[in-house]
Amino acid sequence: MTRTLSAGPGHVLALETSCDDTCAAVLDTHGRARSNVISSQGVHDRYGGVVPEIASRHHLELVNLVVEQALAEAGVTLSDIGLVAATQGPGLVGALLVGLSTAKALAGGRELPFAPVDHLQGHVAANFIVPAPHEDRPVPDPSAPQREGVTGFEPPFVCLIASGGHTLLTHVTDHQGYRVLGRTLDDAAGEAFDKGARMLGLGYPGGAALERLAAGGDASAFAFPGSRAERARGGKGTGRQAFEQSLDFSFAGLKTALLYRLRDMSAAAIAARASDLAASYQAAIVDSLIERAQRGLQETGLDRLAVGGGVAANGELRRRLGSLEATVHVPARALCTDNAAMIAAAAQHLQPLRYPDYLGLDAYATGERPL
Ligand code: KG4
Ligand code: ZN
Repeated sequence: MTRTLSAGPGHVLALETSCDDTCAAVLDTHGRARSNVISSQGVHDRYGGVVPEIASRHHLELVNLVVEQALAEAGVTLSDIGLVAATQGPGLVGALLVGLSTAKALAGGRELPFAPVDHLQGHVAANFIVPAPHEDRPVPDPSAPQREGVTGFEPPFVCLIASGGHTLLTHVTDHQGYRVLGRTLDDAAGEAFDKGARMLGLGYPGGAALERLAAGGDASAFAFPGSRAERARGGKGTGRQAFEQSLDFSFAGLKTALLYRLRDMSAAAIAARASDLAASYQAAIVDSLIERAQRGLQETGLDRLAVGGGVAANGELRRRLGSLEATVHVPARALCTDNAAMIAAAAQHLQPLRYPDYLGLDAYATGERPL
């Protein structure tokens, strides 16, 4: 039997377990994150990537502890929660099921409403979160609230999402969804960072390590595909006109270019030029992201840009975003990488499902959410 919606005003408790981070967060009714707990498993680096079965098992071990910590840090109990949310997909299905089932059980036990959230909508919604006054905001946002508790970054805006699994440019006109302007045709930007890092002998995931290696390196030393350095030297890009004119991304050629470059160098030369290689490789990814973001703004006629996804934690990307002629909103780093506060922020704007209508919900791995 379907009951009527019983939730009064209350906090949102959200879970996110789409990959290898076990996350829970509490958002208050003003859209402020009261807690944002992220437990990174840190066991996958020895395999050079995330092992789905191991990720699921770790989520099972961690999920209750992470939820308890999120409630405790927020200073609330389950009685203060009016809505429960969880990532439904896309992601690793076994991993998603742990968060989704836990969240459904928490909601069902109290007959609370439940909101299933799309992971990518979560990355967009990280921008709706009202920034805490102390958050690191390297790119000044004149439209951001100057005092606590007003609003986050409001649509319409163009949003660049660049993570380990996804790279897309979107046009966001409301709080519920987005239109895709362009997406990657092959690797995601974070994947390009991770594969480059692996070739340079760094660990997994390698984005942050590659950024550290690039510090102090010469970004124009190697003209990798997609970079300004390549264009300055008259590079032809991919040579595919339709692709060059679109807002789609491609990083596979860049990865191959680094592989060939390294193959032609001695171990000693690679060691001597490691910072230059990393800086040039990073510049090619960042240049490609910035160039598409800039054209996305032109094509939509907007002057507001938001970002999301783990790659948005990259200092070089954040620095270059600051040079765009637009109002740029960059969430704090902990809201860019996978987290549950962004899932709660997305949930706040969705029409939730009533108890017990959500009990049969399933996770989805890729593509569009099943209706
Ligand atoms: O959004 P996210 O935490 O998880 C996914 O949904 O994929 O993104 C993880 C990705 C990884 O590929 C990681 O290497 C990359 O974000 N990343 C970075 C940095 N920090 C994380 N890439 C470049 N620079 C960083 N500082
Ligand atoms: Zn993500």
